[in-house]
Amino acid sequence: MTARFSLEGQVAVVTGASRGLGFDMARAIAESGARVYMTARGVAQLEEAAARLRADGLDVRACPFDLSDKDACVAALAAVGKDEGRLDILVNNAGINAWEPLAQATTATWDKVMATNVTATYLLAREAARLMVPRGYGRIVNVGSALAVKGRENIAAYVSSKHGLAGMTRALAAELGPHGITCNMLAPGYFVTEINTTILARPGYEQGVSRRIPLRRWGQPEEIGGVAAFMVSRASSYMNGHILMVDGGLTETLVLPVDTVGERQ
Ligand SMILES: NC(=O)c1ccc[n+]([C@@H]2O[C@H](COP(=O)([O-])OP(=O)(O)OC[C@H]3O[C@@H](n4cnc5c(N)ncnc54)[C@H](OP(=O)(O)O)[C@@H]3O)[C@@H](O)[C@H]2O)c1
Repeated sequence: MTARFSLEGQVAVVTGASRGLGFDMARAIAESGARVYMTARGVAQLEEAAARLRADGLDVRACPFDLSDKDACVAALAAVGKDEGRLDILVNNAGINAWEPLAQATTATWDKVMATNVTATYLLAREAARLMVPRGYGRIVNVGSALAVKGRENIAAYVSSKHGLAGMTRALAAELGPHGITCNMLAPGYFVTEINTTILARPGYEQGVSRRIPLRRWGQPEEIGGVAAFMVSRASSYMNGHILMVDGGLTETLVLPVDTVGERQ
């Protein structure tokens, strides 16, 4: 590990780390040398995930709480601050989605998605800033989505939440930059995780999406942690307010459903 990628001696919080993308981010950040506080609601799954990483010699701790509980968000970071006296890295990864045509959508769904994806991110970032500003250093990564910059049907609350996170990322980059703290967004495309259980169950869906991606496949969770570890390291020191797509080229290319190879205008 070269010094610029090393996280030795640093303290990190990764939300939604009990499975999926957050688990691999926690693993990669711990592999780079940080002590990682892993959060999620489900205690058993979180403890098991932390035990798996500890069995590999990594320094991780399970820190269960519900992100939709505002007081719990504040208390969790206060506890880290009290125990460690510092926080170097915050990865706001946890998120939920909800597929609902607008005309059938409920206010409860909107509130739940916003509480988990947006309000919790804001509160954790605020509490993190209180620990980072006095030390003049920090890395905040918000996990967005290709849907932080694009729209889609039947998922308005989620798309709105991720666009909101993109704005928050830029606002925090502007405000915290003078204190030596960067804030960036890691935006995944399609990955095979539990959040996509519903759409993956639809016949032909996975293959249909793959045909639109230049790499012609979905991402695996193991392909995300290295990107997160880079974004929270000193190696990314001049990257601030950026949205980094990790989507196999989906968002930046136009792959048409018909074969256009050799097409002439
Ligand atoms: N997978 C994709 O294709 C994809 C694409 C674009 C963006 N993303 C984004 O990537 C992030 C991670 O997604 P994923 O695919 O890894 O999802 P996942 O497999 O469903 O994992 C979500 C994680 O968040 C935790 N979580 C959910 N609600 C929570 C709450 N209220 N309080 C505390 N923890 C909570 C879950 O644990 P508990 O349920 O136990 O709380 C779990 O650890 C999300 O922000 C998602 O929007 C994913």
